[in-house]
Amino acid sequence: MTNDRFLRACRREPVDATPIWLMRQAGRYMAEYRAVRAQHTMLDVIRTPELACEITLQPVDAFELDAAIIFADILPILIGMGLDLDFVKGEGPAIGNPIASPADVDALRTPPAAENLPFTLDAIRLVRRELDGRIPLIGFSGAPFTLASYAIEGGGSKNHVKVKTFMHAEPDAWARLMDKLAQVVGDYLVAQAEAGAQALQVFDSWAGILSPRDYREKALPYAQRVVARAQSAGVPVIYFGTDLNGMLPDLVQTGADVIGVDWRIAIDDAWARLGPVVAVQGNLDPVTLFAPWERIAPAVDDILARTAGRAGHIFNLGHGILPGTPVDHVRRLAEYVHERSAALQRESER
Ligand code: CP3
Repeated sequence: MTNDRFLRACRREPVDATPIWLMRQAGRYMAEYRAVRAQHTMLDVIRTPELACEITLQPVDAFELDAAIIFADILPILIGMGLDLDFVKGEGPAIGNPIASPADVDALRTPPAAENLPFTLDAIRLVRRELDGRIPLIGFSGAPFTLASYAIEGGGSKNHVKVKTFMHAEPDAWARLMDKLAQVVGDYLVAQAEAGAQALQVFDSWAGILSPRDYREKALPYAQRVVARAQSAGVPVIYFGTDLNGMLPDLVQTGADVIGVDWRIAIDDAWARLGPVVAVQGNLDPVTLFAPWERIAPAVDDILARTAGRAGHIFNLGHGILPGTPVDHVRRLAEYVHERSAALQRESER
């Protein structure tokens, strides 16, 4: 591979410069993305490997990024399980028949990924061919808890009353639901690695709504299971969530090679609490990119100073890049992370 910094950092091996990629790096902040989306719905893009491939490569061709992430979404996996998912313009994802009872859980199907999401596996094969070894490709899935949250709430939610109530009131059905999700997610992650994904990220975006005790009992065991399944395919696994900084030692229990942290904690503080056994990904506040460049550079310097000299840092945002982010700042960010980290590296070697 021409540039394997990202994979080396996942394994906590030394690198010449800190690798960077951005969650949601393909998306609405790019005019090229909006042009494709003007012609096709979100689900059409995901289901058409040529379009998913084209969008995956847009940020990679435009910026100095060290990894690509396959263009897909965490939610389409629910369609083959029997849920009616749509992406509603201006509102986000919506499920027409959310899970409301134990019987709904028992009615869920658990199709293998090759049947449920063949288009994403094809898109991975296509992107690998197009990348031709330039940089590695990341595959991903939602974690069981975050998918359960969408499946029960039917969409985004403020207080998560439905999912938490179901979890507490129907413990047996909850376990069956999480079992089914862990099965399809584990199979999907392995299938992505077999199709060519060289690392896998598990998004547990909503796990931070749980108390540490509920997280440990009701979500963590299933996250552990999918991480172990994914690792059995021989690729590094990143586990990411937000608002989880009170549970960092628990996140290590997922067994993931890399833990993604949000911007609500200093990255060296997070790493100290995680311990030396994991690599760390993060953690610039995505909104920082809306500031003048003169304000962005010191925020990047701060993160690099806090991670300097430690193998295993992957630069990223603390959450997905936002629509409206100035494209020029993204370009400069990627260049600056490489330049500054390489300079720090040289200084420390002197
Ligand atoms: O990182 C990448 O570039 C790969 C693509 C990717 C998307 N979604 C594309 C997308 C990834 C990794 C995701 C993950 C995802 N999807 C998560 C976990 C990450 C996170 O942000 O916490 C979640 C919770 C979802 C569910 C989802 N999909 C929501 C809530 C929304 C609507 C809100 C929004 O940001 O628009 C989506 C739609 C979605 N997924 C878009 C993209 C580019 C926007 C679609 C559009 O309007 O064009």
